[in-house]
Amino acid sequence: MWPSSWTSVFLLPLAEALQSPGDRATIAGWHLQSTQAVNSNLTAWSLPHANVSSWYRVGPRATVLAGLIQSGVYNESDLFYSDHLADLRESDFQVPWLYREEFALPALPPNQHLFLITHGISSKADIFFNGIQIASSDFQRGSYVGVSYDLTPHVFVGSNAVLIKAYPTNYHEDLALGWVDWNPHPPDSGMGVWRAVELQLTGPVSISSPRITTNFSSSETGESTAVIIKFKADVKNHGEFSTDVVIMGAILSPDLSRRIDLAQHVQLPPYSNSTVSLKTTLNDAQIWWPAAWGPQPLYQLSLNVSLLSGAISDIAPSARFGIRNVASTLNANNDVEYTINGHRFQVRGAGYAPDIFLRFDIERVEYIFQYVLDMGLNTIRLEGKQEHPAFFELADRMGLMVMAGWECCDKWEAWTYNEEAPGAQWHDEDYIAAYESMVHEAEMMQLHPSLLAFLVGSDYWPDERATQFYLSALHRMDWPNPIIASASKRGHPSQLPESGMKMDGPYDWVPPNYWYGKLFGAAFGFGSEQGAGVGTPELPSLQSFLSPSDLKTLWSNLNGGQYHLSPEGSDFHDRKIYNTALSRRYGSPQSLEDYIYKAQIMDYEATRAEFEAFAARQNASHQATGVIYWMLNSAWPSLHWQLLPYDLRPAGAYFGTKVASRLEHVVHDYESRSVYLINHSLESSGTRRILVDLVGVNGTQLLRREATAETVPLASKKVLSLLEIPTLLSGNIAFLRLVLTDDLNTILSRNIYWVSTQNDILDWDRSNWYTTPVTTYANFTALGQMQVVKLEATAAPINNALVNLTSIEVTLENQADVPAFFIRLAVVDPSTREELTPVFWSDNYVTLFPRERLNLTVNVRATEGWMVTMRVAHGEEQVIGRG
Ligand SMILES: *[C@@H]1O[C@H](CO)[C@@H](O)[C@H](O)[C@H]1NC(C)=O
Ligand SMILES: *[C@@H]1O[C@H](CO)[C@@H](O)[C@H](O)[C@H]1NC(C)=O
Ligand SMILES: *[C@@H]1O[C@H](CO)[C@@H](O)[C@H](O)[C@H]1NC(C)=O
Ligand SMILES: *[C@@H]1O[C@H](CO)[C@@H](O)[C@H](O)[C@H]1NC(C)=O
Ligand SMILES: *[C@@H]1O[C@H](CO)[C@@H](O)[C@H](O)[C@H]1NC(C)=O
Ligand SMILES: *[C@@H]1O[C@H](CO)[C@@H](O)[C@H](O)[C@H]1NC(C)=O
Ligand SMILES: *[C@@H]1O[C@H](CO)[C@@H](O)[C@H](O)[C@H]1NC(C)=O
Ligand SMILES: *[C@@H]1O[C@H](CO)[C@@H](O)[C@H](O)[C@H]1NC(C)=O
Ligand SMILES: *[C@@H]1O[C@H](CO)[C@@H](O)[C@H](O)[C@H]1NC(C)=O
Ligand SMILES: *[C@@H]1O[C@H](CO)[C@@H](O)[C@H](O)[C@H]1NC(C)=O
Repeated sequence: MWPSSWTSVFLLPLAEALQSPGDRATIAGWHLQSTQAVNSNLTAWSLPHANVSSWYRVGPRATVLAGLIQSGVYNESDLFYSDHLADLRESDFQVPWLYREEFALPALPPNQHLFLITHGISSKADIFFNGIQIASSDFQRGSYVGVSYDLTPHVFVGSNAVLIKAYPTNYHEDLALGWVDWNPHPPDSGMGVWRAVELQLTGPVSISSPRITTNFSSSETGESTAVIIKFKADVKNHGEFSTDVVIMGAILSPDLSRRIDLAQHVQLPPYSNSTVSLKTTLNDAQIWWPAAWGPQPLYQLSLNVSLLSGAISDIAPSARFGIRNVASTLNANNDVEYTINGHRFQVRGAGYAPDIFLRFDIERVEYIFQYVLDMGLNTIRLEGKQEHPAFFELADRMGLMVMAGWECCDKWEAWTYNEEAPGAQWHDEDYIAAYESMVHEAEMMQLHPSLLAFLVGSDYWPDERATQFYLSALHRMDWPNPIIASASKRGHPSQLPESGMKMDGPYDWVPPNYWYGKLFGAAFGFGSEQGAGVGTPELPSLQSFLSPSDLKTLWSNLNGGQYHLSPEGSDFHDRKIYNTALSRRYGSPQSLEDYIYKAQIMDYEATRAEFEAFAARQNASHQATGVIYWMLNSAWPSLHWQLLPYDLRPAGAYFGTKVASRLEHVVHDYESRSVYLINHSLESSGTRRILVDLVGVNGTQLLRREATAETVPLASKKVLSLLEIPTLLSGNIAFLRLVLTDDLNTILSRNIYWVSTQNDILDWDRSNWYTTPVTTYANFTALGQMQVVKLEATAAPINNALVNLTSIEVTLENQADVPAFFIRLAVVDPSTREELTPVFWSDNYVTLFPRERLNLTVNVRATEGWMVTMRVAHGEEQVIGRG
């Protein structure tokens, strides 16, 4: 089973695609129908020429609901609107559904084999081919279980038919892809052929599962790096004769200029398999780096197996790999610490959600990854929803690390010591399915340099037997990366060390100074999933999925539940905690617009503080080794837990993160009132200047301080103490501006806080698993009384020669003597007035000091022209330029 091909989009008619051994093809699409709608003779349905004119036509991979959307039965915008998803009849999806495809094949020459390859069907399936049942759901069970079935004896010359009967998924009983409290569950629970199915033609011997290991450990070893690379692959003799074969491999250097050939001879007894291993030394190996640290050179690997006659028996589609080393250790505080190529790698990431119907659009994924890197993050976490090969290929190319693993809160963690998971206890067949799942996913991920770790448990660690199965599967696939017991510190199996990752919340709102505390999720150790829960989309986004009555509830019934939050019954079905803080800190919302505006302020300061605190403490005595914000994005339009809304229109939470995660940055610690100089780069050093200004809401300068310091790679350094701030404020609020410049006077970071005399006061003793309550709120209501300033603003195109993106420079000038607070900019389509996406702003939601001038750039996909708009406070959008 070779990964790359099963997402190929260019599909040839199968008879053309499958002509000689080594050829592979993806089944191009399916006819889909409910077993309720057709007669139950599956033998008949799986014979060629069945009449499926009344069935739905769907693509190569589609859960039942994704298929029904594709074929126009349901409309996505309608399903996503308000609570319309709840209107679907669940009973329609509590019966099996059928996936059927017919294709022509030529006669198979003797000694050739045709295989059908699955990569997981939710939750399990019976598979028929030309009237014969070739697999039963006892065997093809588990959403990640990939199997290769030999169709050879059953092939017809001319039309052939495959029929898959997919059984309903039950998150408590099946090893599937569940959603816990992330979003309402899709009514079909993800049932169906969610990953494409392939056909493969081979000679008597097939080759699969190529993988590599290297002896590379660290980039410290010198300029020219000699690396031993070991390739392994599984070969299998499907024939009744002992066969001599030659495995041939070639490695192409990233620029294709150099090629190394490898060969190995093996003899395979009848019906046997073997793992072959080929070794070479690469001199001057090019090392792969995460995006912020260096390039992403990718070597190309091809492997094939031929018979002694010279005839090819099977070819593994070419794949790419990178040379790097990822390791993890437990530090003195028992926290996990990762290194990449020998350098301490502080994880700054967020939890990734696939689409609610598991639809996969690589272009959308690419935009999301661009946004992740644009925010300055370096990692995404997959909790139990593994992806397709193209996803990892993209992460490799873009230098984005992926922390993968199994999920919590359902069958996957139905351990006797876990009282939180409602799953049915595991039986022998579950352990086997878990093993097969692990083998399949490890095989898919093995070559990818973007993999940081695999977490075999999430909230809880796997029991001893499951751990043994997982480890043996990972070892069988030569897993080269860290294996982590779970995402929490609750316990661990004897075969793995403690995880060193904490899962102590919060998941709901906490004030910015929380992160500078010493307990729970505050900035120390490794937070595997935590955040203030924020991520409110802007109003146009909200209007696309909330009804007028939902919107009314949003701002006027502050304890009201929302369908677009966590499901009913969850602690996150409403925004009570958040809304109380919003009202107390910024004043009760006076209108929907006022609420959204205040929400963006809340969201911005929440994400900024979390990422800044982890950056500031990256080399503290209780070191902050990493943090995963809960979450990056949502499976469908959502009101919370996201840095990036579903429609990819970034708002406050996004820009708070982006400011906080700059490669070189300057940070204000709300608690200690210290200023930290941050450096996440591997090499930048030299003298830095930090300029500090504090002005009151009326524009009066309250403080000016300056410091210079040497910046140190991968470190944070305290450069100033501003203990006088509360005294200077004398009961009011003010704006604190930190500007970081290098020795050429280039601005590396500019960071503005609104500060109050009294920070929020936390009641740490009353913390629970998802929040720490506040006893006294910081008072920022004076922001609402600020004079609204008129800004000079222009927007003009600049020539940046970016493919498919238009670059625009926006200049803002505050001609008033008072600050201009939290200005939002957007690029919209001139005719529809819809915000364009993807859109990458250098900065947004900006605050300008009196008389300050600011230049911003934006790169945006604008095929039909553009218009830049500006919003001051919650006022009207004002057009400042067009092109
Ligand atoms: C199902 O269809 C097959 C093929 O058409 C036929 O031979 C068989 O008799 C049918 N079975 C039933 C129970 O109708
Ligand atoms: C196929 O079935 C449809 C009804 O589902 C019917 O209208 C059509 O005539 C059938 N076609 C053939 C060739 O039998
Ligand atoms: C779905 O409905 C929306 C809103 O009614 C409409 O604009 C859109 O074109 C529809 N989509 C499809 C695929 O029919
Ligand atoms: C890996 O092997 C090469 C070639 O023998 C050697 O030069 C290099 O030092 C080895 N690297 C490590 C980390 O052992
Ligand atoms: C098999 O692999 C060898 C080494 O990479 C290569 O030279 C040869 O062209 C390959 N044959 C086929 C048919 O791909
Ligand atoms: C290889 O063959 C052995 C013995 O039949 C079997 O247990 C094992 O699963 C096979 N491995 C592969 C990769 O097919
Ligand atoms: C501005 O506010 C400060 C307090 O922050 C106050 O002392 C000063 O008098 C005010 N200036 C004006 C011109 O209102
Ligand atoms: C918050 O600040 C405003 C404006 O400065 C003031 O009017 C109000 O009394 C303060 N609220 C509390 C609860 O102190
Ligand atoms: C640019 O856009 C075109 C049309 O959407 C697309 O085919 C092409 O792949 C894009 N190029 C890049 C580099 O994204
Ligand atoms: C902003 O851009 C304008 C026009 O391109 C330029 O004259 C000015 O120097 C820039 N200002 C800053 C602060 O970079």
